Amino acid sequence: MFSFLKSKKQSLQPDYGDSREFVRQTTEFILKDQEGIRLDDVQVTKSGQAIVVLDVSQDVDANSAEALRTRMVEEIEKITAITKATVVMTGQATAPATQSKPLQQPTTDKVPNVKDIIAVSSGKGGVGKSTVAINLALAIAATGKKVGLLDADIYGPSQPRLAGVKDKKTTQDENGRIIPVEAHGLKIMSMGFLVDEEAPMIWRGPMVQSALLQMIRDVVWDGLDVLVIDLPPGTGDIHLTLAQRVPLSGGVVVSTPQDIALIDARKGLELFRKVAVPVLGIIENMSYFVCPECGHREDIFGHGGAAADAARLGVPFLGEIPLHARIRELSDAGNPVVVADPSSPQAKSFSVIATNVMAGLDKAQRPAPSIRIED
Ligand SMILES: Nc1ncnc2c1ncn2[C@@H]1O[C@H](COP(=O)(O)OP(=O)(O)OP(=O)(O)O)[C@@H](O)[C@H]1O
Ligand SMILES: [Mg+2]
Repeated sequence: MFSFLKSKKQSLQPDYGDSREFVRQTTEFILKDQEGIRLDDVQVTKSGQAIVVLDVSQDVDANSAEALRTRMVEEIEKITAITKATVVMTGQATAPATQSKPLQQPTTDKVPNVKDIIAVSSGKGGVGKSTVAINLALAIAATGKKVGLLDADIYGPSQPRLAGVKDKKTTQDENGRIIPVEAHGLKIMSMGFLVDEEAPMIWRGPMVQSALLQMIRDVVWDGLDVLVIDLPPGTGDIHLTLAQRVPLSGGVVVSTPQDIALIDARKGLELFRKVAVPVLGIIENMSYFVCPECGHREDIFGHGGAAADAARLGVPFLGEIPLHARIRELSDAGNPVVVADPSSPQAKSFSVIATNVMAGLDKAQRPAPSIRIED
């Protein structure tokens, strides 16, 4: 289903000779009557590898795009000077349908077999979203819930590594739906299970939307209480797609204590607020440092910024996670702290946050009390 995304990194050494012209003509011939797909670029390397970049509009369905890609590869590889053909499909950045959709109108289409969806965001990169997302998912699972984890970082997936399943690939059931990879009791879906970690993700816009929605809707989640979504940094296509097209039950924002990150955290909050997704609260990661030798706590970044900021912004403060080498080491080893060392203070901080997140979710879903004035 996703094979049209499987492009390999190429070292391009353009050769403006005949073979490039042949490839261009072949491509244009195949595209002659094809609506919604436009030739963007053709390169031929010295070793005879052809790389064709196509711009695909949102209206083209993934199956016909894939059929066309396969045919194009076959035809180009028939050209004598060509040793291998790679056809990469990118979306148009300015697809009218996506651009014109007002932000305030999220669809309410339920994701089948998933009760609640929680998005983990941050304004700034590298604050520990992915680390928090997997440990939060595991801490919620430890309370007896069925939990899934979606790595929405299509450009730089990290959950396969954090969950210790980076060499696994997803399979499909008899209806062509994706069976997620299971690790530590979580059902996990990531672009990393579909393409190599090193593969360049040069596509954007509608292609991103379609891939992301398939990664949520075409997956055999098999009855989840909670799906935790690990978002990429910033507020780009992926965030907008999620906010507009996926019924999020709530959002959490991860921040470090530095002011700069808090300023960015507000961007994360704004995204949820604009589309009326309940903000469950702010999590302060790398909150303080505990000396592994003597247990002394050091507030190296100036502690309490996120709590104060949450109060100022009128959103709940969900808890703090210490900066601790074990969190990173265990993450790197694919064995998150919540499962590797559940009785450690680091794991406990995730349990507290999980409890607060679930309580927040419950509160967000409870109808507001109605006030009756009796005379
Ligand atoms: N509390 C923590 N203590 C120690 N190391 C941590 C902690 N939280 C995260 N890290 C480490 O910080 C690095 C960045 O974390 P992570 O990849 O989770 O951030 P991210 O916000 O998801 O990044 P990106 O924006 O690139 O997606 C990783 O090496 C991770 O192991
Ligand atoms: Mg990340």
